[in-house]
Amino acid sequence: MTLRLAEHSKDREQQLAQIRQSLGSRSIVLIGLMGAGKTAVGRRLANWLDLSFTDADTEIEAAAGQSIKEIFAEHGEAYFRDGERKVIARLLEGGPQVLATGGGAYMNPETRAAIKAHGISIWLKADLRVLLKRVSRRDHRPLLAVGDPETVMKTLMAERNPVYAEADLIVESHEVPHDVIVGAVADALAAKLGCDAMPAPKRRRKKVQ
Ligand code: S3P
Repeated sequence: MTLRLAEHSKDREQQLAQIRQSLGSRSIVLIGLMGAGKTAVGRRLANWLDLSFTDADTEIEAAAGQSIKEIFAEHGEAYFRDGERKVIARLLEGGPQVLATGGGAYMNPETRAAIKAHGISIWLKADLRVLLKRVSRRDHRPLLAVGDPETVMKTLMAERNPVYAEADLIVESHEVPHDVIVGAVADALAAKLGCDAMPAPKRRRKKVQ
């Protein structure tokens, strides 16, 4: 399916073109807890940037021929984590792209190093209330099925937030329309990549006959 590119102002278009140019073959890698909006924001960001979008969890499921819930139930978390590390290492060779990772992926030091080498990481940071509201809509996440979701989420926040904080960029994922967050991500990327200071990419002019 081809998504229609969103309509943007001239300034935004210029900014997005500069981001694309500066990225080279690097991937934009979204990290953060379950419910942070990595997939929803990632899809839209890819659309804005006219890049492909890859969801690491979907790729893991395709490689295993099983859902994540089934992988956890049949083989356990350690097996899932091993597959996750391998799949993400492979996906990172395929930039430029927008890559959304599962919430636990960035906790693996090898994966963190691979992301550093091949991409720009963005932590989509949301507060507990927002995360819980978003994850309550579906029940496909095995980590949240083992106990009270609020307790699990609080524990994960305490463990993971200090590691997520190593990301190249941090963008708050509030309860606002996704496009607002995508705009904030684009602004953060432009600042990080020095796009604001760059001359605009040359536009092809039509010859006047
Ligand atoms: C997990 C998050 C999930 C998925 C798996 C484990 C985690 O992805 O990878 O259920 O450890 O936080 P999302 O963050 O996309 O829900």
